[in-house]
Amino acid sequence: DTANTDKYRPVYHHTPLYGWMNDANGLVYKDGEYHLFYQYNPYGSMWGNMHWGHSVSKDLVHWEHLEPALARDTLGHIFSGSSVVDNANTAGYGAGTIVSFYTSASDKNGQIQCMAYSTDNGRTFTKYEKNPILTPFDGLKDFRDPKVFWYAPDQKWVMVVSADKEMRFYSSLNLKDWTYMSGWGEGYGVQPSQFECPDMVELPVDGDPNHKKWALIVNVNPGCYFGGSATQYFIGDFDGEKFVCDNKPETVKWLDWGKDHYATVCFSNTGDRTIAVPWMSNWQYANIVPTRQFRSANALPRELSLYTQDGDIYMAAAPVEETKSLRKESREIPAFEVADAYHVDSLLADNRGAYEIELELAAGSAEIMGLKLFNEKGENVDIYISLPEKKLVMDRTKSGIVDFGKDSAPHAIEAHDRRKQNSINYVDDFALGTWAPVKKADSYKLDIFVDKCSVEIFLNGGKIAMTNLIFPTTPYNQMSFYSRGGVFKVSQCKVYRL
Ligand code: FRU
Repeated sequence: DTANTDKYRPVYHHTPLYGWMNDANGLVYKDGEYHLFYQYNPYGSMWGNMHWGHSVSKDLVHWEHLEPALARDTLGHIFSGSSVVDNANTAGYGAGTIVSFYTSASDKNGQIQCMAYSTDNGRTFTKYEKNPILTPFDGLKDFRDPKVFWYAPDQKWVMVVSADKEMRFYSSLNLKDWTYMSGWGEGYGVQPSQFECPDMVELPVDGDPNHKKWALIVNVNPGCYFGGSATQYFIGDFDGEKFVCDNKPETVKWLDWGKDHYATVCFSNTGDRTIAVPWMSNWQYANIVPTRQFRSANALPRELSLYTQDGDIYMAAAPVEETKSLRKESREIPAFEVADAYHVDSLLADNRGAYEIELELAAGSAEIMGLKLFNEKGENVDIYISLPEKKLVMDRTKSGIVDFGKDSAPHAIEAHDRRKQNSINYVDDFALGTWAPVKKADSYKLDIFVDKCSVEIFLNGGKIAMTNLIFPTTPYNQMSFYSRGGVFKVSQCKVYRL
């Protein structure tokens, strides 16, 4: 066993015990277990030697670490991919086999798609002896992260592969032989784009089972509004061969409005639920964040759904219901009005920096409704809704250690970087605020999750999600509400130890 020696190790988020982690991949549910595989370097705390690490959970919030599932081999690194449960035994390894798809990446062979299978619920995997199963027909350099799903109307498997500036769709009957069907995505979303880690899910709109839409989730790096990596999605139709997007190419929809949310993909085999797991970091600085024993955690698993707003369809990402089982004792602060400031002295006794704050803010005359979480050194994260600007903001400029990013990637490369429209004064890649658009409303529900080195905000049941890392030198244990330009009311305020 590896004992924790890292003060930033999260209490309730998944991390590797030791070493480097990036993307969650191969997510699959089977026989009561959620399998979280992940991009893993078991030998060091920076990216390299990519394996698939492996953890399992019965409830998505408590994880058990298992041995790496797939080790790097002579075909190269084991890059990201997906898993399915082959219930109909289409591949011939037996009904219920877990079949996993990944990219082998090396200078010699480039990026090629491979397959492995497990007949013992993921405890051991056998790599397919005829790998690779798919190579790019045009020698494309960036061709990776295969996502495989069952397309019931045609009784066939579909694979989506990110292919530089587009996604390519393939089909198969036996999970081994794949036929090219179509390409989609060039010119869509943030530009210029390099797509990674695609996922495709069909979801009811506004909970109506008779009105379903396909969502194509794609991760882009760079392209985040705030620099670096972020997750977009496209809503449209899929006929088994081609994806057609509802929106114009320039439309950009973000799954999360923070800076530390990437490579998000969903579990397969979860029935009516669609559960996604983000990697909670950003390629701009992932390799240099000030943790020591491990690098990177996953953000909270999120339940995805579609909703309509102003005649268009968007995706909500709410913490999974199971997250509530983490709640230990709670503290309820009776409703109060904020005229200028309202201070909550100590959030929780023996605060270890792992808690949830459930809030309902009732708008009044205030233009800005804010709250700061802070420690005795004054390090803080500033969360506010600005009604004149119609923004929800999370500002981590003074959150603690922020300057480790000084020498990281140049600001200039973000084509769609909108920071200049933002009133926040940016210092560097890490010391900044992120924001999301909000509509004027009578009240706002905020669910805020803090865990050692992260803050995740969910507005109105996940219609807006915002995930950011923070590195306070001691945990934030106080909270101060403030208003500008008038008053507002905090009609609900509950703090839970997690
Ligand atoms: C995304 C990514 C994937 C790739 C993996 C390599 O973060 O770049 O496209 O498969 O990481 O570790």
